[in-house]
Amino acid sequence: MARALEQNKQDELDKLREEVLACTACQLHKTRTNVVFGEGSPDAKLMFIGEAPGYWEDQQGRPFVGSAGKVLDKLLASIGLSRSEVYIANVLKCRPPKNREPRPEEIKACTPFLDRQMAIIRPKMICTLGNYSTSYVLGKFGIKASSMSSVHGRVYRCSSLLLGEVLVIPTYHPATVLYKPYMMDTIKKDWEVIESVYKSL
Ligand code: URA
Repeated sequence: MARALEQNKQDELDKLREEVLACTACQLHKTRTNVVFGEGSPDAKLMFIGEAPGYWEDQQGRPFVGSAGKVLDKLLASIGLSRSEVYIANVLKCRPPKNREPRPEEIKACTPFLDRQMAIIRPKMICTLGNYSTSYVLGKFGIKASSMSSVHGRVYRCSSLLLGEVLVIPTYHPATVLYKPYMMDTIKKDWEVIESVYKSL
């Protein structure tokens, strides 16, 4: 039964991926090398949501495979999880040129795909990585994230018809430590929260 459900989710994700690969809804399709749909367990209890693909993600069509991805892998390992146990996606599925920030019209065009990914996976916990995914996800539940410093490491108990009950934990984007190494301690503390909530599921 559980396996059938997981296969069903995988089939739905595969169908959605086909749609996303063909997407031309915003200008980013013109400059992308590959769409970065997302990857991981279709039945993950924990879903991570980043911002947008960078250079290496665009080259390989996989999320978090560049330098921020190496930080993410270390943080995952620090709480005893592997990529195959969680699901990793982004707000935008195509790389903004020169890694510029996502634009409102791109977020508007792309997030219906993220919504559908979340609705298929139905994670029990969502960890938002950075400002864009944090404001998008908390915003869906009517919560305004005025700054990352005021929301990181907190556990938001949210619920909606599509997602059911879900715990949202915002934290800093893993790339933060690449230019502000002193942030690692703060980020590790957030990840301790993520670990203890995950273990309590
Ligand atoms: N940064 C993100 O937000 N997502 C990626 O996939 C890679 C870097």
